[in-house]
Amino acid sequence: MTSPRTDWSGPAIFVEDVHKSFGEVRALAGIDLVVERGKVLGLLGPNGAGKTTAVKILTTLLAPDTGRALVEGRDVVRSPEAVREIIGLAGQSAAIQEELTGRENLEIMGRLYHLDAATRERRAVELLERFDLIDAADRPTKGYSGGMQRRLDLALSLVATPQVLFLDEPTTGLDPRSRIGMWDVIRELVSSGTTLLLTTQYLEEADELADEIVVIDRGKVIAAGTAHELKNRVGGDILEFSVVERDRLAEAAEAIGFLSEAEPVLDAESGRLALAVGGDGSHALVETVRRLDALGVHSEGLGIRRPSLDDVFLALTGHAAEDEETAVTSPRRPGANRRR
Ligand SMILES: Nc1ncnc2c1ncn2[C@@H]1O[C@H](COP(=O)(O)OP(=O)(O)OP(=O)(O)O)[C@@H](O)[C@H]1O
Ligand SMILES: [Mg+2]
Repeated sequence: MTSPRTDWSGPAIFVEDVHKSFGEVRALAGIDLVVERGKVLGLLGPNGAGKTTAVKILTTLLAPDTGRALVEGRDVVRSPEAVREIIGLAGQSAAIQEELTGRENLEIMGRLYHLDAATRERRAVELLERFDLIDAADRPTKGYSGGMQRRLDLALSLVATPQVLFLDEPTTGLDPRSRIGMWDVIRELVSSGTTLLLTTQYLEEADELADEIVVIDRGKVIAAGTAHELKNRVGGDILEFSVVERDRLAEAAEAIGFLSEAEPVLDAESGRLALAVGGDGSHALVETVRRLDALGVHSEGLGIRRPSLDDVFLALTGHAAEDEETAVTSPRRPGANRRR
């Protein structure tokens, strides 16, 4: 690993008031980020929130309009070369050359980093083994499955053993088993001292991997903290049920609205309702049964549970993380489901 700069005692990643627009579109409207060395930051946000833009700025692929971004103290605008020396990136669009084999892809990457021939070869084999690609090493990558291509892409970002690694949605499109395999690889990297900035739409992934989570929406940071802190912000446990008479969902929400200051989250399609209820959950359950009875509305799956990061996300942005199209509406918050 390249030795860390001895004259830099600040955080591994430092972003201050960064703005970036594409014509009329404000992708980043002034964001701040701090990631301490060796930590994992999970950057969450719905489609179009500005996650990839932030990653591209930090990896010198895009220049910010204004603001400052430093990686290990190196300014991405003034010293892009110095930044590139110490980072790795696995982006949303894979860097793989399809007509080449996995091994060739890795060796070319080694050449870009000026590794000598012997080192390149050794590193390629190491990575092929680590990512379980050794049997496919000499096949053209266009024949690789989606999961294999993701693993190769991640391997490519590690050829030069980066101090700071950026992973833009590393497990999107992977099946659950491959996702968990990828998490193991990522954990291993982090335990060897790599600082990681990870974007994801899978909140479970952020929950599993991130020390700290930053939620962005429309180019702004809307919440930050540990998963535990963010869950506490939902304000208590979640009361949840589905209404059998789906067209009466709003009515049901209205009837139990008095239980909480929080806004109920409704899914019109499934008839599901979730409401953060502070304090005594059993009281909320009893009251819900009583009120729905009085209305003549039937419920299914009525229960109380601890909040998940998905609840946090819904409460903060008014829509689910994994699917922008989800028909989530909040009757007390007009415009919460607006499209961008
Ligand atoms: N090169 C570009 N030209 C024009 N608009 C762009 C460009 N890149 C990004 N945008 C816009 O900037 C906004 C932020 O995009 P960005 O790709 O950073 O979002 P994201 O959070 O990564 O989304 P996703 O979850 O879909 O990957 C979006 O409105 C997007 O359409
Ligand atoms: Mg993106």
